[in-house]
Amino acid sequence: MFCRVGISSFRRVALARSLSSTARQNMKVAVLGASGGIGQPLSMLFKQSPLISELSLYDIVLTPGVAADLSHIETPAQVKGYLEDGLDEALQGCDIVVIPAGVPRKPGMTRDDLFNTNATIVQKLSEAAAKNCPKAMLCIITNPVNSTMPIASEVYKKAGVYDPKRIFGVTTLDSVRANTFVAEAKGLDVRDVEVPVIGGHSGVTILPLLSQTNPSVKFTQEELEQLTDRIQNAGTEVVNAKAGAGSATLSMAYAGARFVFSLIGAMKGQSKNVVECTFVRSDVTEAPYFATEVQLGPNGAEVVKGMGELSDFEKEKLKEVLPELLKNIAKGDSFVNK
Ligand code: NAD
Ligand code: LMR
Repeated sequence: MFCRVGISSFRRVALARSLSSTARQNMKVAVLGASGGIGQPLSMLFKQSPLISELSLYDIVLTPGVAADLSHIETPAQVKGYLEDGLDEALQGCDIVVIPAGVPRKPGMTRDDLFNTNATIVQKLSEAAAKNCPKAMLCIITNPVNSTMPIASEVYKKAGVYDPKRIFGVTTLDSVRANTFVAEAKGLDVRDVEVPVIGGHSGVTILPLLSQTNPSVKFTQEELEQLTDRIQNAGTEVVNAKAGAGSATLSMAYAGARFVFSLIGAMKGQSKNVVECTFVRSDVTEAPYFATEVQLGPNGAEVVKGMGELSDFEKEKLKEVLPELLKNIAKGDSFVNK
């Protein structure tokens, strides 16, 4: 209960505070894949924030233009754009590296269908991060997150710089959606609602813990089934609505900014009890990586919390999570270790 209050109150003020604070900050953040559908709005949210003093934008295309455009915004963050051979330079001195590089889904595809293309991209970018800024927090947005976050972890292990507290699969969008859908269904003010979402980030591995919604809410069995199904398939809802033009970008940029602002607040020790659901190294289940509520701090994932008490409905759903998640993780591991 306490930690969810922590999430909720932080979320209410995070974006507003990041726009209004005048405190001097010195965080250098890199966005790898900065010219894409997520990369551009995410970089704009970062540029608006006085929590960030340097913004390093890397992509294989368009970053000079994106950086020039953003650099005219009247906020202190210094923006630089880098192309292909500028990757090492882009990563020098970074405190946080965010990776949304890679291809998105089209209708009819699963996230796992992106593996062949995106695994190589994430491997290459994580190798560069491990080499140039091994202590930076690494936030992986690229799908399939259930496999790409393990890929980054294996890359860091191979490079001898692995710190499990500093590598995150960004699953914040699942909580953002759950909060929105529950608030709509129950006529609540969405700013007050926080639903933990655990497991992973695809289909049945996305497990919203509606029984732990804060504030406490009662659901009928039909509502539980409908809401759970919608949260698990919300990404596909957007992919189908975009009809071939990609997947969620704007809501993902919001969610990515929420996660990174939480992380910065925790890293700087400015915010206590910062809790976000995120996919991390975990002993909570038999899966070596698993999303639960995680207390963030100066060193990253300080406390990986348990699942709390699950309802019978959630216990049944959890049985579907683990086989799929273990398969996705093994695929990522063996990609690097083949
Ligand atoms: P996009 O195609 O619009 O943008 C991707 C960008 O990555 C492009 O600018 C491209 O040039 C760049 N890129 C490709 N290879 C690169 C490389 N080797 N180095 C640097 N940049 C490279 O796609 P998008 O809509 O921004 O989505 C990006 C990824 O994020 C997809 O894999 C998508 O599935 C995923 N995603 C994840 C979540 C989540 O909740 N974690 C949510 C939405 C989307
Ligand atoms: C999402 O949840 O929106 C992303 O993972 C993108 C996708 O392919 O659904």
